[in-house]
Amino acid sequence: MKIEIGKEFPQYFKALYPEEFELFSHFEVTAGIPTVLFAVTTWKENGKPNVCFHSWSCFHGDKTAFFAVMGNLYQHTHTYANIKREQCFCVNFLPISYYDNLVDTIHCNEMDDDEFAAGGFTIDSAKAVHAPVIHEAFLSMECTLKEIQDLSGAGITAMVIGQVQHISVEESYAQGYRQRYGKDGFMMLIPAPQDLVTGEPNKSAIATVHIEKYD
Ligand SMILES: Cc1cc2nc3c(=O)[nH]c(=O)nc-3n(C[C@H](O)[C@H](O)[C@H](O)COP(=O)(O)O)c2cc1C
Repeated sequence: MKIEIGKEFPQYFKALYPEEFELFSHFEVTAGIPTVLFAVTTWKENGKPNVCFHSWSCFHGDKTAFFAVMGNLYQHTHTYANIKREQCFCVNFLPISYYDNLVDTIHCNEMDDDEFAAGGFTIDSAKAVHAPVIHEAFLSMECTLKEIQDLSGAGITAMVIGQVQHISVEESYAQGYRQRYGKDGFMMLIPAPQDLVTGEPNKSAIATVHIEKYD
């Protein structure tokens, strides 16, 4: 038997915190699909560096171009304004050991805050775009802005597509699977899978990748 969930909000879904379903679609916690966690880095208008802990994205292209498709960036963030102004951004992948540092940048989010200092990160210069890079990231992508589209049309979030111009990879991550796909590698967000039988909420989970087989 399948549990069927439609467009109407299921009234038996309980929120984990009061504004949960003001922020997120009930489909997000119905599906609970994992996506990679990373930090978007940009310059603020006043020259301070900005860090935005982010997920809800995918990365792909064809032989002519490769794209970072950030499917769901909130329009109220500094990051959204910075990307529109600067027309570029960097995507930085950090291991789970930096989770708390990245959360510190969420709590230190005023215009005058240096969010690299807030997270204890070191600034590197990007090679191909005008944006700060997190030195501690094991992989960073430098992107120019390709397109912005407000998918729902509600003025809340936007899909922001960056075209990748350059990638930097820490040398110790350059070979094989061990570093990139274990505890030292990509960090994943599992978005709060709702109990679809009782409607009880769950916390989001942070995961790492465990390889099962090779193809
Ligand atoms: C796992 C995760 C947790 C987040 N938690 C929060 C949060 O508690 N509060 C919040 O406002 N944004 C949260 N965000 C969203 C952004 O990280 C946050 O809005 C960001 O600090 C915006 O930065 P900016 O205004 O400097 O661009 C979270 C994102 C992720 C991926």
